[in-house]
Amino acid sequence: MATKKVLIGGGTGFVGTRLHKLLTANNYNVINISRMPAAKNMSWTDLETSGVPSDTSAVVNLAGQQFMDFTKFWTPGFKQNVFNSRVYTTRALATAINKTKDKPDVFVLITGVGAYEPSENNRYDESSPSTGNDFFSRLLVKWEKAADVDPPVRLVIIRSGVVLGREGGMIKNMILPFYLGLGGPIASGKQYLPWIHIEDLIRLIKFSIENKEVKGILNGVAPQVITNADFTKEFAKALSRPAFFQVPEFVLNVLLHKERAMMLTQGQHVTPKRTLEYGFEYKYPKIELACAECAHLF
Ligand SMILES: NC(=O)c1ccc[n+]([C@@H]2O[C@H](COP(=O)([O-])OP(=O)(O)OC[C@H]3O[C@@H](n4cnc5c(N)ncnc54)[C@H](OP(=O)(O)O)[C@@H]3O)[C@@H](O)[C@H]2O)c1
Repeated sequence: MATKKVLIGGGTGFVGTRLHKLLTANNYNVINISRMPAAKNMSWTDLETSGVPSDTSAVVNLAGQQFMDFTKFWTPGFKQNVFNSRVYTTRALATAINKTKDKPDVFVLITGVGAYEPSENNRYDESSPSTGNDFFSRLLVKWEKAADVDPPVRLVIIRSGVVLGREGGMIKNMILPFYLGLGGPIASGKQYLPWIHIEDLIRLIKFSIENKEVKGILNGVAPQVITNADFTKEFAKALSRPAFFQVPEFVLNVLLHKERAMMLTQGQHVTPKRTLEYGFEYKYPKIELACAECAHLF
């Protein structure tokens, strides 16, 4: 089988590292666009000056300043960084794709379920509108608009839930307190927690690259809708630990800033209607399975 080239913006992070492994194991040649030099990396300036490397069959964007970096205050400058690192990198990739004669088949962008307004009552699938009412949904609207690629390039936008994997994201932040028996629900625990296991997210990206009929928005969430309290119970169970230490909402609002804390204290009921209609099969459809896979200290 001939090797296919995939260009990944921000491919050096939590999701990108796992995606890189999956794609190389399946005979893809992966090039990262990174701010750091390395053997298989190109820079954002290289992209702007030289364009998409020849014979690239797929482009993926995973770049973005981590907004749940607890060492960083939620200042106007940091918010701008969170915003620009997503919108500008996506626009840079779309512009480079539109300029190239040798077009890739597909541009896959990973965004988030922040597109949907947090609510305990609303039900969302891919046909639900983005409201643009809060910082994150405004970001989502601009981020997805920046992925303006001309046909015939297929555009797939995966709105990911919280990614569960041992090496990064929420699990990496929570495993030590939970392991020490200091875990518990966040706020009331009743808020929905849209989630996906990292293995399923990277498989969904590969699925989107390889299946030519897949296009448009896909919700990158597991089919099982859960609340924060459900997650807490399953994760503590998988670690064989109690989880009684509830984290009050006001504490998070003070520590993280209310605008950022809402990503933890509020949630959305999101289902992957189109993802399932395309026939994608989840390896971790249930939170119990996902927690069992992630719940190890080392
Ligand atoms: N993890 C989750 O739970 C989750 C949930 C929903 C959506 N997402 C989205 O999925 C994407 C990938 O997530 P991830 O968890 O893999 O993120 P990550 O580990 O933080 O990695 C993202 C990559 O983005 C690049 N980056 C960071 N700050 C940047 C900046 N200021 N300008 C340009 N590039 C920058 C970095 O690459 P270099 O250092 O090599 O430049 C980094 O490796 C992100 O856009 C994220 O918003 C993630």
